[in-house]
Amino acid sequence: MTRFPIDEFKALQTPFYFYDLNLLDQTLNEIKRTARDTRYKVHYAIKANANPGILRRIQAAGLGVDCVSGGEIMAAVEAGFKPEQIVFAGVGKSDREIELALEKCIGCFNVESEPELHVINEIAKTMDKKANIAIRVNPNIDAHTHEYITTGLAENKFGINLEQLNEIINLVNSLDNVKLEGLHFHIGSQITETEPFVMLCQTINKLQDEYEALGIRFSTINVGGGLGIDYATPDKHPIPDFESYFKTFRNHLRLREDQQLHFELGRSVVAQCGSLITKVLYVKEGITKRFAIVDAGMTDLIRPALYNAHHKIENISNPNGEMHHYDVVGPICESSDCFGKEELLPSISRGDLLALRSAGAYGEIMASQYNCRTLPHSVFSEK
Ligand code: LLP
Repeated sequence: MTRFPIDEFKALQTPFYFYDLNLLDQTLNEIKRTARDTRYKVHYAIKANANPGILRRIQAAGLGVDCVSGGEIMAAVEAGFKPEQIVFAGVGKSDREIELALEKCIGCFNVESEPELHVINEIAKTMDKKANIAIRVNPNIDAHTHEYITTGLAENKFGINLEQLNEIINLVNSLDNVKLEGLHFHIGSQITETEPFVMLCQTINKLQDEYEALGIRFSTINVGGGLGIDYATPDKHPIPDFESYFKTFRNHLRLREDQQLHFELGRSVVAQCGSLITKVLYVKEGITKRFAIVDAGMTDLIRPALYNAHHKIENISNPNGEMHHYDVVGPICESSDCFGKEELLPSISRGDLLALRSAGAYGEIMASQYNCRTLPHSVFSEK
């Protein structure tokens, strides 16, 4: 359970992200323990959090990394990840980003369209290189998650549709400067049910059988990320259930002996170790409501405004106070700048510190400077 050093916090400028590195280490150990099959390779989806202090820890634990931009490739290299541990995804890779990835000799490009494949082949030819390719397949599976973060349905922009897969595989095999390594999938994020992953395994089994009958074998299968976390009661489940997650793949995916299975986990690695710490500026009494106006806003944590997400709020200055209802809102000039409505919290006063929990993933990295605000800084549980 994360403990907040409240006395130390009092001296610090708010808002800031607080990272519990002990919990991060325990999470990484649990991933290593449960993904013990030597054919399993876990890549951390760096888009969830690219704070250098977090990245170094994840790199030291031996995970690979999944990048979606040149900036992420640079951040990964600077944090010590080896280029061959990098996979590079994204529907809109620029020429410069492709060149950078080839210069660094990354492990694999996850290719999302036919024109992209031609461009990678051309650029690799001019650089006298051969790029490893996995084709991102859109398996048309409903992951039952928020519409903005579901990615595996036929109508969204990601990947190659099953109907067009044959054509693109033949194309890869006909080009000289790309080499087909495998297939890549990602069906969405914050997935809390097993069923979508089981369906994914079934789709992959079927595809592998069909392609093997045609004499085509894949050396890697990449199943993306998506494992969800417990936002409502983070202290009950500080570490996601990796055992069940990997077991689903062990039980349902017919991985070949000589194949590697790649995972791209983001949220489940870092979400629970991070909290956004904010100070209460004013308690404003309305006619029917009481507002706690805090110094963090949607610029620091955009998930509530963007996805209607809810992060558990705690009054860490007065944890045992009498309970009252509050709307907890930020200072930004937008009505969506609200972290919680009618939150039942221990009595709040000006100057109290609140923790917005489970904010380690897609928190700090999605911060903006709207309203000319400064970006939040970060504080670690260890110096
Ligand atoms: N692989 C690919 C190809 C992805 O697009 C993503 C996330 C991941 C892996 C990592 O997924 P995870 O294990 O974190 O679920 N900003 C949103 C989440 C966007 C996820 C985008 N793709 C949020 O705050 O909920």
